[in-house]
Amino acid sequence: MTKTRVGIINVTGYAGVELARLLLNHPGVELTSVTGRSAAGQLLGDFFPHLSDADLTIEANLGEVDIAFSAMPHKESAQAVLPLLENGTRVIDISADFRLRDAGAYPQWYGFEHPAPQWLKKAVLGLPELYREKIRSAQLVACPGCYPTGAILALAPAVKSGLIRPEVIVDSKSGISGAGRSLSLTTHFSEANEDVTAYSLSGHRHLPEITQELALLKPGFSPAITFVPHLIPMTRGILPTAYAPLVAGKLPEGKRGEEELLNIYRDFYRDEPFVRVATSSPHTKYTWGSNYCYVYATIDHRTGRLIAVSALDNLMKGAASQAIQNMNIMLGIPETTGLEAAGIYP
Ligand SMILES: NC(=O)c1ccc[n+]([C@@H]2O[C@H](COP(=O)([O-])OP(=O)(O)OC[C@H]3O[C@@H](n4cnc5c(N)ncnc54)[C@H](OP(=O)(O)O)[C@@H]3O)[C@@H](O)[C@H]2O)c1
Repeated sequence: MTKTRVGIINVTGYAGVELARLLLNHPGVELTSVTGRSAAGQLLGDFFPHLSDADLTIEANLGEVDIAFSAMPHKESAQAVLPLLENGTRVIDISADFRLRDAGAYPQWYGFEHPAPQWLKKAVLGLPELYREKIRSAQLVACPGCYPTGAILALAPAVKSGLIRPEVIVDSKSGISGAGRSLSLTTHFSEANEDVTAYSLSGHRHLPEITQELALLKPGFSPAITFVPHLIPMTRGILPTAYAPLVAGKLPEGKRGEEELLNIYRDFYRDEPFVRVATSSPHTKYTWGSNYCYVYATIDHRTGRLIAVSALDNLMKGAASQAIQNMNIMLGIPETTGLEAAGIYP
């Protein structure tokens, strides 16, 4: 039986090379084409020696494939995938270019006019926990960002059950690889090591995505979100901590309230292969190199607030492995194929 041919546009970045690592070992597909501006003509295994068994040459342009992944920067990604979409190829985009439903949000948050608003209507957000059924038949899947994946998974059960009021705060910590492989002063070792800083306090690009998805979860819920990301000196990992006022009277007082909250989260994620509802605050180290997201929710009884924490690997559930989870769903093969491995610990 011939395998589904898959390709990666821009294998030379962190998200792209993680896709290559996972797809090269995926039993259900064959990675037949990879592109990379800075490495065209080189062997993938020479450019990335940890993939030295890969017998693929990095090309300037993508060969013919059945499913194309794009790991391009935003704006460039839309330009690269539009011709593929027009010729009927199925596309899984890791960039932000098809995540927002409102084309008018792109100039404000990303600084460009969207070149193909018609595809925003057809795109399905690649968060299987919310959109599994639509992903099955989608031609274009827009994988959510790493911060939004963590924030939405931490808050979705509480929003859906009407437990919280809209004044939500998401304080999120990210490892340096979240900023990509391209060189910048911010990610320079001597700037980032032994340092922690908050950034984008006036509004990070992932804020509209988190707001859009939490609003869609419950009619009438209009989230007013303060989202503050922090850069911390580790390679991988995202840890969002979300705070929101609880709606009075929804949960019992004291310990029973915590137990009921846990049950609501367990019910919401009951059939989810990659979300683990934790009984204590998770660590990013639980998730290194895996597609798992750990979610923990509790109550601050003094203030009547929900505290919800999640932990994930930004390059995995936040990018490459989540994209492959989406591919598995699109192909109708078991969703966990090629993704069963637990995280690397310590
Ligand atoms: N890093 C994460 O944790 C993460 C998580 C979720 C989503 N994403 C998204 O995934 C995409 C890739 O992110 P990344 O972190 O992998 O970035 P990256 O490591 O910085 O790589 C970006 C890639 O894009 C290429 N590139 C840069 N500028 C380009 C341009 N103007 N035209 C064409 N190619 C260009 C680079 O290729 P050359 O060097 O070969 O030119 C490189 O392969 C982005 O859209 C990002 O927002 C990243």
